[in-house]
Amino acid sequence: MTNLRIFFGLLLALPLLLAGTCSTPAPGPPDAGIYHTYAEISTELQELQTQFPAIAKVMAIGESVEERTIWALKISDNVAQEEDEAAVLFVGGHHSREWISVDVPFLLAKHLLQNYQTDSAVKNMVDSGEIWIVPLLNPDGHQYSVISNRLWRKNRRNNGDGSFGVDLNRNYGHKWGGPGSSGETFSDIYRGPVAFSEPETAAIRNLAAQHQFVALLSYHNYSQLVLFPWGHTSAPAPDQALLSQLARTMADSIFNVHSQRYTPEQSSDLYLASGDATDWLYGETRAPSFTVELRPRSSNPGFVLPDSEIQPTFEENLPAALFLIEWTQSADRRMSSTL
Ligand code: ARG
Ligand code: ZN
Repeated sequence: MTNLRIFFGLLLALPLLLAGTCSTPAPGPPDAGIYHTYAEISTELQELQTQFPAIAKVMAIGESVEERTIWALKISDNVAQEEDEAAVLFVGGHHSREWISVDVPFLLAKHLLQNYQTDSAVKNMVDSGEIWIVPLLNPDGHQYSVISNRLWRKNRRNNGDGSFGVDLNRNYGHKWGGPGSSGETFSDIYRGPVAFSEPETAAIRNLAAQHQFVALLSYHNYSQLVLFPWGHTSAPAPDQALLSQLARTMADSIFNVHSQRYTPEQSSDLYLASGDATDWLYGETRAPSFTVELRPRSSNPGFVLPDSEIQPTFEENLPAALFLIEWTQSADRRMSSTL
């Protein structure tokens, strides 16, 4: 009697035991907690467009290696029209494991749209400029990080030799192939076979060919830094004074929110890296371009930032983003720039 009961008890528990020991995927869609997955970003961008059709337009700017649509959200008055207004670009999610780099620009988009009617500063910048936000440039890698390997960095290109992935932030076309990038396919900083070999970086190149961006902010994590070109050389950029002043102003405005220090410095001071987004846009156009390395400050917790820190990380980065947008629309910018 007792033996039979134990037998049937085990039989009933079998599926549970198996589920616990095998790596059967959890039922339901991929879940990253409060962090947004690719599917959630896609849905919520569409919802923002539906809610704010006059000032928000979702646009497909390309397709990833695994054929996911790469989305940009354009925010401006008369959003359906191309106007002669200063355009600024925010990009997140170059690197798969850097989840916070996706949520920060997404929350920036939401903030601009939800406060347009009530905040006159926001209304002004949306009316007089064009704000482009690409929250998740590397959807394949991000999905892979959510489902299979939390610490994946590159995209999901099949390199054909058993290795996967190109480092998108070594694949841009200014001084491509230089120091701080690798020709080894297995490397985490593999630059790809040629500049812009990847559809994700090509999407940014094509977008920039259609819109004259006068500034770029590319989000990454971690380390709490505000980086400016150059990254491929330790030589100063021609606009070093302006770049470092803008970076310092952004770092100060970040600090003023939650007293988190983000260090402003030249990218190469972190380490030399060739083929990143900011060297490319700046190198091509002289548009001030920045990498913000978000929270945390150090390797513990490193890439795996608890989701309780999404909101404060967004809050502290909001004034810096708004400052950069306002600067693109200012007389200061027109005077300092050769554009
Ligand atoms: N963590 C970023 C990356 O490795 C930073 C790149 C900034 N550029 C640089 N040259 N350090 O892609
Ligand atoms: Zn990164």
